[in-house]
Amino acid sequence: MKWLVTGGAGFIGSNFLYYLRGQYPTDQLVCVDKLTYAGNLSTLKGLMSAESPLSAPGFHFYQENICDRDRMFAVFETEKPDVVVHFAAESHVDRSIDAPDVFLKTNVLGTGVLLDACRAFGGIRFHQVSTDEVYGDLPLDRPDLFFTETTPLHTSSPYSASKAGADLLVQAYGRTYGLPVTISRCSNNYGPYQFPEKLIPLMIINALNDRPLPVYGDGLNVRDWLYVWDHCRAIDLIVKHGTTGETYNVGGHNEMRNIDIVRLICRELGKPESLISHVTDRKGHDRRYAIDPAKIGRELGWQPETAFRDGIARTIRWYLDHQDWWQDIISGEYRTYYAKMYGQREEIR
Ligand code: NAD
Ligand code: DAU
Repeated sequence: MKWLVTGGAGFIGSNFLYYLRGQYPTDQLVCVDKLTYAGNLSTLKGLMSAESPLSAPGFHFYQENICDRDRMFAVFETEKPDVVVHFAAESHVDRSIDAPDVFLKTNVLGTGVLLDACRAFGGIRFHQVSTDEVYGDLPLDRPDLFFTETTPLHTSSPYSASKAGADLLVQAYGRTYGLPVTISRCSNNYGPYQFPEKLIPLMIINALNDRPLPVYGDGLNVRDWLYVWDHCRAIDLIVKHGTTGETYNVGGHNEMRNIDIVRLICRELGKPESLISHVTDRKGHDRRYAIDPAKIGRELGWQPETAFRDGIARTIRWYLDHQDWWQDIISGEYRTYYAKMYGQREEIR
């Protein structure tokens, strides 16, 4: 089987490629990634051969923009994949608030280009990796409420709106052209290779450097955390056994308040909680995400396998053991990003 994985040099896409290599050693893996600030070729070195960095038996890397129709069609023509798993996206909410334009281009138009390529090359199976953020948020005082697959789309940020737009396109291509599509909507992932703009790696790295830990607002916002490998297994199951045209929510009933995550990281690293600094809140900040994963459990037998206490310990260990990986990142343009994003946030208590 030949898999074309977009965004495979990013956090979840790279974990998915390693998952596939372990699970299906003889399958062909093709990765398409533009290598934006969030994509890192060194993340994929375990899949490449020393002689030829961009390919190895069963693996080929293309540095391409999914919005470039001609280049995408050329890749499909050459590779003729059996399935496309589409991770490539602009993925960070704060960046989308600062500069929405590229989110619309990559997340909506780029997805449209890939869907057209799937149609043009014989109705290729397409899986859209989406997010629980398309459902908006839930109130903190209604712990009985969860997102199901029939919860209306109700987006808050340019990021989530662009993902919802892409999801609607995917559904439309399924219905209008009969393209064999599926969508997964997952909650917050954590694990190795996550870019340090996101909550968990940012807090680990700042704590290791004895820098302030910038918690937005009161820190009581709730996210539903899932270890990245469990997400990868879910996508594999959906691609292999899911019903085309369907959407599957993915999450492990692991809701946690941001402040509790940051305190836990301080404890695990032996750092004082006095590093925590409450700063100006994110605009439009979603209060609570909580996935009901009953459908994927019932229909595909998926269950999360990694308990949060094990996953977070493994993740912290990974960042301690891979300082080269993140030192390279935080010494580059990340510094400008950090100064811009956090310089304008005031300490609020
Ligand atoms: P990421 O930002 O770490 O990686 C995104 C990758 O896409 C990068 O390698 C980047 O270079 C690539 N990319 C961006 N624009 C591109 C373009 N125009 N052409 C080709 N490649 C491009 O993101 P992530 O956290 O790994 O998320 C992957 C997918 O999963 C996204 O679609 C996101 O919406 C979805 N998702 C993420 C989470 C999460 O918690 N991180 C949860 C649910 C769903
Ligand atoms: O729910 C799935 C989504 O999870 C994915 O679709 C997104 O791609 C992914 O980025 C993530 O979005 P969030 O906005 O939930 O993740 P982030 O790590 O940016 O923030 C998690 C929470 O922590 C959120 O409530 C904001 C807060 N936060 C974040 C950062 C970066 C802080 O308090 N301080 C910070 O510095």
